[in-house]
Amino acid sequence: MPLILIVWSVTVKPVRLAILGLGTVGGGTLKLLQENAAEIARRTGRDIQITHVGTRRPRPDLNLEGIAQSDDLLSIVRQDNVDIVIEVIGGMQLAHDVMLEAIRHGKHVITANKALLAEHGNELFKEAEKHHVQIAFEAAVAGGIPIIKVMREGLAANKIEWLAGIINGTGNFILTEMRDKGRPFADVLTEAQELGYAEADPTFDVEGIDAAHKLTLLASIAFGIPLQFEKVYTEGISKLTAQDVGYAEELGYRIKHLGIARRLPNGIELRVHPTLIPKERLIANVNGVKNAVMVQSNPVGETLYYGAGAGAGATASAVVADVLDLVRFISTQNTPDYVPHLAFQPNALADTPVLAADQMTTAYYLRLDAEDHPGVLAEVTSILSAAGINIDAVLQKPAHDQGRVPVVLLTQPVLEANMNKAITQIEQLPAIKAPVVRIRLEALNSQ
Ligand code: HSE
Repeated sequence: MPLILIVWSVTVKPVRLAILGLGTVGGGTLKLLQENAAEIARRTGRDIQITHVGTRRPRPDLNLEGIAQSDDLLSIVRQDNVDIVIEVIGGMQLAHDVMLEAIRHGKHVITANKALLAEHGNELFKEAEKHHVQIAFEAAVAGGIPIIKVMREGLAANKIEWLAGIINGTGNFILTEMRDKGRPFADVLTEAQELGYAEADPTFDVEGIDAAHKLTLLASIAFGIPLQFEKVYTEGISKLTAQDVGYAEELGYRIKHLGIARRLPNGIELRVHPTLIPKERLIANVNGVKNAVMVQSNPVGETLYYGAGAGAGATASAVVADVLDLVRFISTQNTPDYVPHLAFQPNALADTPVLAADQMTTAYYLRLDAEDHPGVLAEVTSILSAAGINIDAVLQKPAHDQGRVPVVLLTQPVLEANMNKAITQIEQLPAIKAPVVRIRLEALNSQ
């Protein structure tokens, strides 16, 4: 039989996007797609067309020519001329409903919404798998740092042991300004809000909730576990004092607000808290609104990623990188799960337990408000010694008001449950006049 070749010309259709939300991130994304359209098409081999924007407020500064505008987001995601929905409205309920509707209409979704994914991602990913669509969320963690892609793809051959990140720019900005310029907390927070870095509810930044959302996503990608936001131990920076920042400096440490995820033989630690880290570590020198994530993995060892964690350009960079990935995915359609949402095959997620807070192991900075008389330090150290807690350094300052002295102790790593017991006993000593201030300490070395 003769081979008949039928040749026809195929016009490759553009991939069509709807951007929901034209605030800092949505506006930045639209601009970036327009300004870099030629370069992006060179990378994807395909044109990208923004067909819809979902917005309530006018943005005369943006070029919206030929783009349908509406505030009916649910109707936008049902349109046939939309392949990818970019959800950058933020918030919870509406974003959730819109994303679910988009998925159910067979649209891929890109989101920067860490709160929504950390709290409802498991359910949304399941729905996406059912409908053979992708949810991409590079912009949800550390803004412009491509940390999701790094762990999902670049480090895919490695077993990740731990990661530690400065993943909230507002918190880092506040700590930096307080330390360098002695500025008051509230003043710095207002500036971060004006710069567009802070969350709508700034307690999410200062109480560690935003970092806990991001850590939840990072840990799932690092270890292949379901999202478990509710199990993250979370402590913010609002109770940190200039006094402790100063003592930490004297001892050679800097206090950073870290998100830490660590794989141990008996489970996984997920924690967000102020942390003393040795001044000479690169990550200790990440200042202002910048973010950084350190990843310790085997066999590559320690790697560090640094960059802008928020702002229009940085976040748009991450959103548009996800657009490129999805355009390539749509163009090839090789397999619906080519790179799964959490980087592990959905049926291969592990049920490794997340450890309770008192099962975490970390070193400590302790500050005691003690009466200044002989034997007080001996009483404290004998409690620590009985609990098997090894002391690394002691700093005692001259007596201040009413003959009381601040005593600072640094310890070796200890099980949190043991430290809790020791602190309870120390606080019961008559010579100890106030609750013990405790800040965790991490050497962040390769061990
Ligand atoms: N509020 C966040 C921050 C914005 O300060 O890092 C980026 O997620």
